[in-house]
Amino acid sequence: MPYVIGSACIDVKDGACQDVCPVECIYEGGRMMYIHPTECISCGICLSVCPVDAIFADDELPERENRFLAINAEFFEDGVTGWGEPGGASETFRTDLDHPEVAGVEKKETELS
Ligand code: F3S
Repeated sequence: MPYVIGSACIDVKDGACQDVCPVECIYEGGRMMYIHPTECISCGICLSVCPVDAIFADDELPERENRFLAINAEFFEDGVTGWGEPGGASETFRTDLDHPEVAGVEKKETELS
């Protein structure tokens, strides 16, 4: 799996990565985006546009982000979306679902006005 989206994307989901991906391998979940493990061609363009530096090469993941290697892959498996290899993100392949470990992350406090 070439590139992986990590925890910094949760509840940010800026979307710039999806706009620049040439093969549409970045899919939208409820609280974050997920990179498809076999559709990604490792071009690295997404890394340079993410405003919160949420994206890593799989062999450069910080230890605290290690689980996200599996989390990105498992998002496409039966336990979450069951999409397998959809062949490209589209309106059909976006969802409010998240990997259970992401769904379980406590929401950041929002500022009260
Ligand atoms: Fe998330 Fe960064 Fe993309 S915040 S949606 S990985 S641009």
